[in-house]
Amino acid sequence: METQIVIVGSGIAGLSLAIKLSEADALIKIVVVTKAGLSDSNTRYAQGGIAAVINKNLDSFEEHIRDTLQCGKGLCDAEVVEMVVRQAPERIKELKEWGTRFDRTTDNAYDLALEGGHTHPRVLHHKDSTGFEIESVLITQLKKHKNILALEQHSALDLITESGGSEKVCTGIKVIDWKNKKIKKLFASKIILASGGCGQVYLNTTNPSLATGDGYGIAARAGAHLQNMRFMQFHPTALYLEKPNLISYLISEAVRGFGAYIVDMENKRFLFKYDLRGELAPRDSVSEAIMNHLNTSTEHCVYLDARHLNRKVFNEHFPSIVHELLSSGIDPSKDLIPVMPSAHYQCGGIQVNKVGVSSIKNLYAIGEVSSTGLHGANRLASNSLLEALVYAHNASLHILSELKNTSITFSSKTKVVEFKTSNEKQEFSKSLLDIKKRMSASAFQNNKFLLLKDKDHLENMEQVIENNIQKNIISPELLEFRNVIASAKWILTDKLEAIENKEITYTN
Ligand code: SIN
Repeated sequence: METQIVIVGSGIAGLSLAIKLSEADALIKIVVVTKAGLSDSNTRYAQGGIAAVINKNLDSFEEHIRDTLQCGKGLCDAEVVEMVVRQAPERIKELKEWGTRFDRTTDNAYDLALEGGHTHPRVLHHKDSTGFEIESVLITQLKKHKNILALEQHSALDLITESGGSEKVCTGIKVIDWKNKKIKKLFASKIILASGGCGQVYLNTTNPSLATGDGYGIAARAGAHLQNMRFMQFHPTALYLEKPNLISYLISEAVRGFGAYIVDMENKRFLFKYDLRGELAPRDSVSEAIMNHLNTSTEHCVYLDARHLNRKVFNEHFPSIVHELLSSGIDPSKDLIPVMPSAHYQCGGIQVNKVGVSSIKNLYAIGEVSSTGLHGANRLASNSLLEALVYAHNASLHILSELKNTSITFSSKTKVVEFKTSNEKQEFSKSLLDIKKRMSASAFQNNKFLLLKDKDHLENMEQVIENNIQKNIISPELLEFRNVIASAKWILTDKLEAIENKEITYTN
């Protein structure tokens, strides 16, 4: 297959990059690889929205920058923060031109929501299903471009690299076509990983089942630099059910911005003991306060209390959340909503520069899978969709200028290899559950002995999986398990390095 650009992932980052490249040059051949359907992505689940300074009379870039830096606890790259925040209005304008509808007030101003860590309401949203709105708009746009080929039900397996002098160069990617049971080698000038996060490393996560850290595994195996993987962000208010689902339903931070409280079993607000900003403190602070509070009791969860809020307006703002709660037998106008922190967003990832280029030549990473320096130790709410748009834009300009200056290296060397299907689904799902339990147990503590033991276990499991892959014995479950293991290993490696460097303290 002839292609110049291969994009892995069909969330906001991957789709908007494909559209931008195609709008700039309708002759570029672009392939979007996605392991499920085009619309299956983490983006689709985003409730809150996109942070942007829209009304400069009430808000300012400087304040959005300050909030982002404060939330990131000294680990953000200040230049990146400034660049992303200042680009926001332009990227929002583009999204609107593509057809995205953001909620407005009765006087036709944007209805801006308040979320934790923000000093002003600045989150543009489409009710409580902003991600779904954006994803639908992007797919409609994508389908208008005849030079973009979507390969659905195709999983990325590994990168193809060569050494070019002192640096490594990415020349293509192996993908698995599940329908035809073939491994294809796609050679391209530029490969972009936009494959989302790794929430499925943990027992409780707001991420869909496909968030298995594929990009981290693929990049790390090729030798790309990963950074800050220990900063998995836990969202404080995922719906707590006694029998957990594969995905924990998210109760948007905007619900607290709207005035809901967090209370314990005795109906007491306790967050102010931990952080004076209470319910509107940044996520890591609220999640940690909840975990500490639970450690001093025998309870399994805390509660969101929305009973004092105007029922009609609440229902108008959060129709999907109200619908989900009612179908779980919880009426938010009368009942407390049980909630628990749940793995939500990987703040670290593949280290990239300001245009999304990784440490491997011709390999880019954008969106959650990347680590740009915007989020530092803790992402400010609703900065992630913005980051994805900004880096898709920056990467598109860089790719276009590089394609102009270099002779095109795409080729039609699609190689096809047969593979055997692994039948060990049952066994992997047991091992996967074990890893999720271990990772969840170590999420809020730094016991060096246990971390080393868990890392050792992951390395042994990795070896078993690699033996299968070498023999071309493959299944979707095995591939995802392989990348969960890789992501978990890098999270623990980063944590252990931080302990070694005395950046975090540990217990024995
Ligand atoms: C939320 O609506 O609370 C999630 C938004 C985000 O992850 O930034």
